[in-house]
Amino acid sequence: MSTENSPKHLAIIMDGNGRWAQLKGKKRTFGHKAGVEKTREIVEACSKKGVESLTLFAFSSENWARPEEEVSYLMELFVLALKREIKMLNKNNAQLRFIGDISGFNKKLQTSIADAQQQTSNNDGLCLNIAANYGGRWDIVNAVNKVIDKDSVITEKSIEENLSTSGLPQLDLMIRTGGEKRISNFLIWQAAYAELYFSDKLWPDFDEAELDLALSDYSARQRRFGKTGEQVSV
Ligand code: FPP
Repeated sequence: MSTENSPKHLAIIMDGNGRWAQLKGKKRTFGHKAGVEKTREIVEACSKKGVESLTLFAFSSENWARPEEEVSYLMELFVLALKREIKMLNKNNAQLRFIGDISGFNKKLQTSIADAQQQTSNNDGLCLNIAANYGGRWDIVNAVNKVIDKDSVITEKSIEENLSTSGLPQLDLMIRTGGEKRISNFLIWQAAYAELYFSDKLWPDFDEAELDLALSDYSARQRRFGKTGEQVSV
């Protein structure tokens, strides 16, 4: 698939790990393990396809409400994945960044995050943003608080510049796997003019061919940003 019409900034809600495992008669955590493998495949594919920025929803601020066993498994899995995937990220010239309230994680995970970010900081290919302990409302409130510390007037531009995604290309496409059709407090400001694509595939079953379907669907859309079809087609 050509890279010409690829979104510059793609976000993915990787949903369906738990159901995928349960359908196989396994524990939900088995699905998360498979989810990490899938993440690697999709990161490498995006790198190849010329996506500049890929933002993945790994852990929402609401996910703390899951059973304690699942939450601690995820924390350990993130530590392991970060350690293991640095090589792959460097091979793909991908830079890792975390967005979200990292201070909510335990020290071990915070250290792994800082190490992984540091070890990929010289890469200038794909920017891989992992949203962890992230919520879109949190992002906006956080940005507004930063602005009011400096300015008396709040503008769209000033909020934009203080969001966790500041400096990244505007969000072009958001994919959600797993069949649900909602954005679940992910990048709610940034998604204002993003195209949305919903896949019924559970995340561990999503693959490069499914990504290609989403990208070709995206490339056939006309993005109008409030204008008329005639205005944007000239
Ligand atoms: C959604 O499935 C997935 C999560 C809550 C987060 C876990 C994501 C991964 C393990 C893959 C990414 C890993 C890294 C390191 C970026 P779900 O549990 O909500 O599935 P369900 O809807 O079937 O219950």
